[in-house]
Amino acid sequence: MNEVPLLTSIDGVVTASGEALLPMPDDGLLRGDGVFEVLRSYEGTLFALGDHLERLGRSAAAIGLEIQRDPLEAETAALLARADGVDCLVRIVVTRGGRRIIGLEKLLVHTPSISLATVTYSPTVILNGVKSLSYAANMEATRIAKRSGAAEALLVRPDGIVLEAPTSALFWVSESGSLKTTSLETGVLDSITRDRIIEHCDVEVGAFPIRDVMTSSEAFLASTTREVQTVDSIDGEKIPTSPAPRTLEAAKAFAAVLQAELP
Ligand SMILES: Cc1ncc(COP(=O)(O)O)c(C=O)c1O
Repeated sequence: MNEVPLLTSIDGVVTASGEALLPMPDDGLLRGDGVFEVLRSYEGTLFALGDHLERLGRSAAAIGLEIQRDPLEAETAALLARADGVDCLVRIVVTRGGRRIIGLEKLLVHTPSISLATVTYSPTVILNGVKSLSYAANMEATRIAKRSGAAEALLVRPDGIVLEAPTSALFWVSESGSLKTTSLETGVLDSITRDRIIEHCDVEVGAFPIRDVMTSSEAFLASTTREVQTVDSIDGEKIPTSPAPRTLEAAKAFAAVLQAELP
C-alpha cells in the first residue's frame, strides 16, 4: 500500500506538512483558541463528513468563531484527492485568526486492548461539547496515566462521575448487564462513533459513578481513530476481555455502519 502524503493546506495553499507556515499572531496557536475535527478516510472516502462538519460548526458557534463551510469542504476534498485512496486521517482546524488548516496524517496504530488509569478532571463548563484547540489538559491527562503505567487516561469528575478518555468515548457493561455510556450532560464530547453505537445497540446513557465501571464485565473505548477498542484494566484492576459479547456486538454494529455509509 502507498504511503500517506503528509501534506497541509492553509487557506487552500498546499505544502509539505513539515514546511507549512502559519502567519502570526494567531490566537489559534497562541491561546488554543479555535476548533478542530479529526476524520478518517477509508479508501478515499471520509466517514461521516457531514457530522464532522456539523460538529465543527457547533463548536465554532459556541465560541463565536465564524467558519466558511464551502471552502473548508472544497479544500478538504482537494487535499484528500492527493492521498490517492490511501487510508488516512484528515485534521480540519479553524483558528481564531481565521485560518483554515487541513492536514493529512497517518492512521494511528492502536493495540487491540488498552489499559486505563483514572485521572480527576473537571469539565470547563463553558467549553463542554466544544472540540476546541485547547486540548492541553486532555494531553496532560494521557501523560499522567502513562506515568502510572497505563496506556491512556479515564477522566473522572471530582464528584466521582465517570466522563470519557481524553480523545475517545467510554462504554462498559455494568453488573446489571446493561451496556452504558456517559450522557452529554456530564460534559463529554458528542462523539460521532459513540452516537452511531447508541443508535444501533441498546445503550443506557446517563451520569454514572466510576465504581460502576470498576466492577464492569466489559469496557471499551470508541472513537474515529480507535473505532471500538477493548479496555483490559482500569487502575490495575482487570476488566474481563473474554467473553465480551457486548463489545463484539458494538464492534459488529460499527462495522455494519461503515459498510452502509461508505460506498
Ligand atoms: C474528548 C473526546 N471524546 C471523544 C472523542 C471521540 O469522538 P469521535 O467518535 O467523533 O471521534 C474525541 C475525538 O477526538 C474526543 O476528543
